[in-house]
Amino acid sequence: MEQQTYKYEVTRAFDKSAASYDRLGVTFFGPMGRRLVERLAPLPGERALDIGCGLGACLFPAAEAVGADGRVMGIDIAPGMIERARAEAVRRRLAHVDLRVMDAEEPGLDPGTFDVAMGSYSLIFLPNARAALQRYARILSDGGRIGFTSPVFRQDTFPFLPPVFTELIPRSLLSSLPSEWRPDALRRRFNSWLEHEDDVRRTMEEAGFTDVRVEDEPVDLVAPSGEVWVDWSHTHGMRLLWEHLSADEAQRLRRHLTTELDAMREGDGPLTIETPVRFVLAAKAATKAPRPGSSEARSVGDRSLHILGRRAS
Ligand SMILES: C[S@@+](CC[C@H](N)C(=O)[O-])C[C@H]1O[C@@H](n2cnc3c(N)ncnc32)[C@H](O)[C@@H]1O
Repeated sequence: MEQQTYKYEVTRAFDKSAASYDRLGVTFFGPMGRRLVERLAPLPGERALDIGCGLGACLFPAAEAVGADGRVMGIDIAPGMIERARAEAVRRRLAHVDLRVMDAEEPGLDPGTFDVAMGSYSLIFLPNARAALQRYARILSDGGRIGFTSPVFRQDTFPFLPPVFTELIPRSLLSSLPSEWRPDALRRRFNSWLEHEDDVRRTMEEAGFTDVRVEDEPVDLVAPSGEVWVDWSHTHGMRLLWEHLSADEAQRLRRHLTTELDAMREGDGPLTIETPVRFVLAAKAATKAPRPGSSEARSVGDRSLHILGRRAS
């Protein structure tokens, strides 16, 4: 699919889902975003950028961490997401939060203007993430760091969904999808550089980062019922799939998923699906080497090591 058409489709899908995104009683993006912020540990007074911020799963925890002396900017290609995140920032009276509609692949931001950049389940939507990462390395200050999450992609699983759905979504239904939305095409588009740790590491280093850490950690996806999960799945990336099914196919898939997911609950308890998440963290590589032993070298080195949890105790 041509890149502009693809971006148009992604923007339209997220714009339409902005009103209900992550608001249906399912928890997943919130805890994952908070965990990413915990791992990046923005310090009071720092400047943080949330790439593909959506409704602010990282943005708001980061705003709290940097405090009123810091600054947080959220960028997203979907105007509906930005409008709602902005309304929430106003509701919380956060004057240090700025929200802008922007294509994260072409961020019009000045070099060295952020200390932390983060993106939860968003960089995966960039068709040319490698080029974008180089731009983020420039936007970060010396000693700055980046962190993002992605699904843990595996050859034999359905991209974006926890592994359990590989069994639950009948292959026959997928044949009605346009070829560019079938699992193989999605896999090629989304996880070409994310599936293997070595590729992630190399991509990050080539983009200008160092101290790359790739850590897979499960995040619980919790929904009150199978039905609610199915409703929720219309509000994020999977919406792209639902929209391409006929009414009859969508109905059959809804019934099937609801029954199977409810069978995984204990009595009336919630549905809990352990979802593997990949956390990628890195520091900006020094652009020019400071003189060894100089105060600049000590402060840049100290900060990166401290933030990435490497400080010797
Ligand atoms: C799965 S949502 C994640 C949102 C948020 N980070 C969270 O964790 O809840 C992906 C977000 O990426 C945004 N996005 C996708 N492609 C983008 C692009 N090229 N530039 C900026 N944002 C983009 C979407 O609009 C959507 O809000």
